[in-house]
Amino acid sequence: MSVWAVLAAAGSGDRLGADRPKAFARLGDEPLLAQSLKRLDDSDWVDSIVVAAPPGWEEPAILLAEELGCSKVSACVTGGATRGESVARALAEVPEDAAVVLVHDAARPLLSDEVIERLLTALNDGWDGALPGLPLVDTIKRVDDEDRVVETLNRDELRAVQTPQAFVASVLRDAYANGDVAVASDCSSLVETRGGRVKVVEGDPKLSKITDVGDLERLGALL
Ligand code: CTP
Ligand code: MG
Repeated sequence: MSVWAVLAAAGSGDRLGADRPKAFARLGDEPLLAQSLKRLDDSDWVDSIVVAAPPGWEEPAILLAEELGCSKVSACVTGGATRGESVARALAEVPEDAAVVLVHDAARPLLSDEVIERLLTALNDGWDGALPGLPLVDTIKRVDDEDRVVETLNRDELRAVQTPQAFVASVLRDAYANGDVAVASDCSSLVETRGGRVKVVEGDPKLSKITDVGDLERLGALL
């Protein structure tokens, strides 16, 4: 069973506000992208990696992979205007015979092998897709356009989801070929729309996403 990883690293990182795309902002001594590259490359579960790099940053991404000795990187594509378009471009480089595709955000650097194992176990159990998720700690309200509370949601039914998201390759391809890729905020939503069965497995608090400078400092301390 061949497992391909798509690493979405093509965002500009507007909210981080660095002088370079977020994937190349410093986390510890290295560009942020280095963590997910190394962790995917080191994982015995992952066979090959396709990176979506920001326009103009394809070469630095390839050089970084070489410097780190990441032998599984098979292609680096230029990302698109949205995350969905970046993933679609990378997915086009995944060969037809791939069994599973794991889509991961470079903005979540602290990926562990245990999470990958939980995702692949769910696919092995027959799910079309699997994603890591965590229970919510806060009470969640739905509001209208005046911020008037409309509803208190049942927290027990809610999960905050992370990446990587893992899918049977044919299911993900079908979802990308037929879905509204440009507006989808994650891959799972495209698969859900097509009727795919997606399982939430236990996530990892360390997999939180780097959005602003405070996140870089917080996760940098956990390296
Ligand atoms: N991403 C991508 N291509 C895009 C936009 C986002 O590959 N056109 C990737 C980012 O590199 C990141 C992930 O999708 O790993 C999640 O996106 P986000 O955290 O929003 O990162 P940015 O879009 O870079 O940040 P911002 O929204 O602050 O500009
Ligand atoms: Mg963004």
